[in-house]
Amino acid sequence: MKKGNTAQDGVNPIQVPCKKLSSGASIPAIGLGTFGSDSVSGSQVAQAVRGAIAAGYRHIDCASVYGNENCIGEIFSQIFQSGVVKRQDLWITSKVWNDMHGRGDVLISCARSLKDLQLDYLDLYLVHWPFPNFHAPKCDVTSRSADARPYIHDDYMKTWRQMERLVKAGLVRHIGTSNMTIPKLKLLLRDAEIKPACNEMELHPHFQQPELFQFCVDNGILPIGYCPLGSPGRPERDRTPEDTVDMEDPVILDIARKHGVHPSAVCIQWAIQRGQVPIPFSVNHYLDNLKAAVGEPLSESEMQAISTIDKNCRLIKGQVFLWKQNQSWEDLWDIHGEITPA
Ligand SMILES: NC(=O)c1ccc[n+]([C@@H]2O[C@H](COP(=O)([O-])OP(=O)(O)OC[C@H]3O[C@@H](n4cnc5c(N)ncnc54)[C@H](OP(=O)(O)O)[C@@H]3O)[C@@H](O)[C@H]2O)c1
Repeated sequence: MKKGNTAQDGVNPIQVPCKKLSSGASIPAIGLGTFGSDSVSGSQVAQAVRGAIAAGYRHIDCASVYGNENCIGEIFSQIFQSGVVKRQDLWITSKVWNDMHGRGDVLISCARSLKDLQLDYLDLYLVHWPFPNFHAPKCDVTSRSADARPYIHDDYMKTWRQMERLVKAGLVRHIGTSNMTIPKLKLLLRDAEIKPACNEMELHPHFQQPELFQFCVDNGILPIGYCPLGSPGRPERDRTPEDTVDMEDPVILDIARKHGVHPSAVCIQWAIQRGQVPIPFSVNHYLDNLKAAVGEPLSESEMQAISTIDKNCRLIKGQVFLWKQNQSWEDLWDIHGEITPA
C-alpha cells in the first residue's frame, strides 16, 4: 500500500455512505481520527486533515486533549475561506477532557475548542471519559491523578447538564458519551433530558463489544468505533504483551486476499457494514481508508466469519484513570454488569 496520500485521486463525498442519528441528522459513515498518539505533531495531523478533506472526508473526530485543535482550526479556517467546502458540509466532533467536568468547566472547555477550531458550533460534543481523572500528555502507564475518583453518577449528571445547556445554547448540535458501559448508560438514559446521540467506543474485529454495541443500537445511540484498525501506532502506555493484532488475523488476511485489498480495508468495510462509524487515524493512508469505505462490500459469510474472531482484546485499557492502588484496569469497564463500587 502506498504511503503519502495526496488529494488528486479522491472520492466524491456524495458516494460516501452516511448513518442516520435518532435526531434524523446524517453523519458520514467514516471519519478521520486526529489523535497523534503523542508521536505525530499537531501540524502533521492538521496537514492530514487538509488532505483528507480535499480527498473527500467530511467527518473529523477531534478532542481538546489531543492538543492540536488550534492547528486543525487553522486548516478549517483556510478551507472555509477558499469556499470549496462549507462549514455545513462537515461533521466535526470534539470532546471535553477529564479535568473539565466541574461546574462551568464544560462550557469553558467547549468555548475553547470552538475558538481553537475556529468554529461557531460543533456537530457533536462528547464527554471523553466518564471519570474526572486525567493524565498528563505522554505520561506512562503508572501515572495517576492525585484526586482520582470512581464513577459517581451524580457528578456525571452535573457534567451532562452542562452538555445539555450547550445544545440549548446552539453551540453544539448533538451530545454524546465515550468509554461508557451498559450500567452507566442505563443511568444516563434514565436521567438525561437530552439523550446521548452517539457513544464513542473501542471497536475492531478483535474487540467487538457485542453487548454494548447492541445496547447502543437498541437505545438509538449510534456507536462510533475508535481504534478501527487495532491502533498499530498507539502510545507505549497502551501496549501489553497479550494484545493481538487485527490486521494479522488469518480470517482478515484471507478476506483481504480474496478482495485484493489491504487488511485495513477489510476492517473498515466490516465496521461500516456492521453499523458503527469507524474513525481511523492516518497521516499516510487516509485516502486508502476512504476508498475502503466505498469499496466492494463484504459478503454475508465474510461478515459472519469476522464475527467469530472477536478476542475481547481491549487495547485502550485506561489504567491511568484508576482511582486506587493495586487496582485492575477491568474495574473501569464494569465487567460484572454493575458499576464497580469505590
Ligand atoms: N474516545 C476515545 O477515548 C478515543 C480513544 C482512542 C482513539 N480515539 C479516536 O479514534 C481515532 C483512531 O484510533 P487510533 O488512532 O488509536 O487507531 P487506528 O485508527 O486503528 O490506527 C491508526 C494507525 O494505523 C495506521 N494506519 C491507518 N490507516 C492505515 C492503512 N490503511 N494501512 C496501514 N496502516 C494504517 C496509522 O498510520 P499512518 O498515520 O501512517 O497512516 C496509525 O498509526 C483516534 O485518532 C481518535 O480520534 C478516541
